[in-house]
Amino acid sequence: MFEKEIISAVYEAAAGRLTKEEIAAALETPKESRLGDLALPCFKFSRSLRKAPPAIAGEIAAAIKLPECVERTELAGGYLNFFFDRVKAAAGLRGLDGWTGESTRGEREGEGKTICLDYSSVNIAKPFHIGHLSTTVIGAALYRIFKYLGYNAVGINHLGDWGTQFGKLIVAVKKWSSLAEVEKNEEYFLNSLYVRYHREAEADPALDDEARAWFRRIEDGDKEALAYFDAFKKVTMKAVGKVYDRLGVTFDSYAGESFYNDKMQPCLDILKRKGLLVDSDGAKVVRLDDYDMPPCLLVKADGATLYATRDIAAAYYRKKEYDFDKCLYVVAYQQNLHFKQLFKVLELMGFDGAGDMEHVAFGMVSLEDGAMSTRGGRVVWLKEVLDRAVEKARAIVAEKNPDCENKDDIAEAVGVGAVVFSALWNSRIKDIVFSFDKVLNFDGETSPYVQYTHARCSSVLRKAGAPAAEPDLRALSSDEAYETVKAVLSFEDAVRSAARYREPCYVTRYAVDLAEKFNRFYYAERIITEDEAATAAKLALTDAVARTLRAALSLIGIKAPDEM
Ligand code: ARG
Repeated sequence: MFEKEIISAVYEAAAGRLTKEEIAAALETPKESRLGDLALPCFKFSRSLRKAPPAIAGEIAAAIKLPECVERTELAGGYLNFFFDRVKAAAGLRGLDGWTGESTRGEREGEGKTICLDYSSVNIAKPFHIGHLSTTVIGAALYRIFKYLGYNAVGINHLGDWGTQFGKLIVAVKKWSSLAEVEKNEEYFLNSLYVRYHREAEADPALDDEARAWFRRIEDGDKEALAYFDAFKKVTMKAVGKVYDRLGVTFDSYAGESFYNDKMQPCLDILKRKGLLVDSDGAKVVRLDDYDMPPCLLVKADGATLYATRDIAAAYYRKKEYDFDKCLYVVAYQQNLHFKQLFKVLELMGFDGAGDMEHVAFGMVSLEDGAMSTRGGRVVWLKEVLDRAVEKARAIVAEKNPDCENKDDIAEAVGVGAVVFSALWNSRIKDIVFSFDKVLNFDGETSPYVQYTHARCSSVLRKAGAPAAEPDLRALSSDEAYETVKAVLSFEDAVRSAARYREPCYVTRYAVDLAEKFNRFYYAERIITEDEAATAAKLALTDAVARTLRAALSLIGIKAPDEM
């Protein structure tokens, strides 16, 4: 807030000795607001100006013509601190009139830029488990954040719909079940057949030969084999789709690995032409010794292509189809090497876009709760985690607010939100130990806390009805009100940081911070009083908080019920 005005004023005061860029880079927000709203540390200027920092700060303070938005300045050591005019700051809230959180209030920095995001990318006929939570919700949050900033975001679900598991499943279905039964059941059933296959194949290795033969038939386009393949995909996508709906996750493309079956050869041709593809025991690889990496295997001795081969084809396809400025892969850090190799191979190929590829890595999620551990090879399905969180949320909501209607919707919003929030709270790369009790705590740094605060705002606004007077913004000058005003107005900074660092946690943490500030205001002051003009101002603030919390939550994919 007010950075532009302050930069200009300091620039004028420095009379050509500092550039606007230097000033902008130096300006910072003090950790504590009693030190001011913005601070100009002068330490970095002391070398070029050949003066001690306090002297520089003093000279600027003496020469500066304060803009209207600044009430006063203070000198502290090498710092020049600015205190804003609180009423002028609160006037910024008026710009929020009619704002719904759907479009940006500020500049649309992404206008004209295209950004591809590869996220979730589930594997067909394999479990959609807790390990996919982060890629799904981090990717979807980044997708919404980029869209909000005006980027043309393209959400891509690079389905893992190719590989020998399909041959194995055909064998399993033919031996122990039927297509009809598979189609009737959920994906769990498919998975149990897969597990059984692995158990039996240990005793009877001949099964693997059968499975390979069936996979060959899929590759060759055999009708019967493809019917199975399609059915597996359909069953999985139906189940996965339900989870996506609950999470509010969407995609623009589901072009997965099988989509690239006929798009790899031209890439292999380029590699050959450039002399990059070399033979290694019958297989074809790109050597990466010069870059301290193992070779990138692209074609097996039996002619089969690999995950990496498909990713090369996908990169070319995306460039051609979307002409992206950036292509992001939201994938676990276990695949660090894969992406380093992929990006290097693309660079060696001369792929135009090689410099715009980015691996957005994240850590692992594990469950603290023993009952749902992966011990004994049992996978923890994402759906089960959501169901369990919703069930627990239902009990909490029923206890807190026994009379409220649509308890089911609220429990779903709170339970699912808590799971989503847990994956978006820390910076991506941290491993997470998931605890149902922790994420469902209404008093912690959690989504129920934010949702509850939003419902509180809604309830105040409902009770108050339409304001009876023009707001008197002087009523927002207390420390608590002012901190809340400032928090509302820094929403877009949080969104921009989230986009810049590919870290949705900037938005998540922002939401908690705004909720805390509003609650402090709520407990410190009465909102509805005899003074109608003051009431109108406080209601305007409450409304702005509600809208902003809604916007922040919607960016990270969490619903904001009006009542809880
Ligand atoms: N399906 C892969 C997995 O579950 C993730 C795919 C990521 N995207 C990509 N283009 N490689 O491990």
